[in-house]
Amino acid sequence: MKQRVELPGYRRDDVDVDPAYLSPDYVATRSRAPKRPLVLLPHTLTEVTGPVYGHERVGELDHDLTSQHEGEPLGERIILHGRVFDGDRRPVRNTLIEIWQANASGRYHHAVDRHPAPLDPNFTGAGRCLTDDEGRYRFITVKPGAYPWLNHPNAWRAAHIHVSLFGPAFATRVVTQMYFPGDPLFFQDPIFHSVRDPRHRELMISEFDLDETVPEWALAYKFDIFLRGREATPMED
Ligand SMILES: [Fe+2]
Repeated sequence: MKQRVELPGYRRDDVDVDPAYLSPDYVATRSRAPKRPLVLLPHTLTEVTGPVYGHERVGELDHDLTSQHEGEPLGERIILHGRVFDGDRRPVRNTLIEIWQANASGRYHHAVDRHPAPLDPNFTGAGRCLTDDEGRYRFITVKPGAYPWLNHPNAWRAAHIHVSLFGPAFATRVVTQMYFPGDPLFFQDPIFHSVRDPRHRELMISEFDLDETVPEWALAYKFDIFLRGREATPMED
């Protein structure tokens, strides 16, 4: 008789932490959210084992969004750093972190962005790096500007950086948004508020970090990411 092999799989999402698919104030979710209950698929071999990223694919300067062009981008240079932890507070090493963001004027280098703010020829707004053995990552970038969107009258997104983490397999990819402390737009940002529990919402806000701030050069912000558990960072699915 053929022996059935049990795959270890991954822990499922914490349902109370992540935003609901349907958050009516975030208008796009009204048409985007699934209308019927989701069907949980078993984790299969390919989900659990691949793809695997080779080190050589991440360039040495891919973490520095200010050095991808001839000149430096305009705006406030910042250091964004932190650590990635699993549900048992163990550092997650060798995970691919990708970020993308608007420039200092609040405009994305993207064909559909119609915000009448200048594009910066020295800023594309995308970078990536791998976490080290302690789960640490570090980016150099500029602080993104707030930008308008059409969700409701006079709607502006709080300044944010999109963050994607890619572990060793498809089932481990998660995406979130990181915000800056004290942003005056939090109160009206329905994406921020789609995470209903205020304690979990706070976990998406980075912390100003004077210790990592480099004198005469750049302020630092710390953003630790918890993939699972009570302190899990809310994730978009
Ligand atoms: Fe955005």
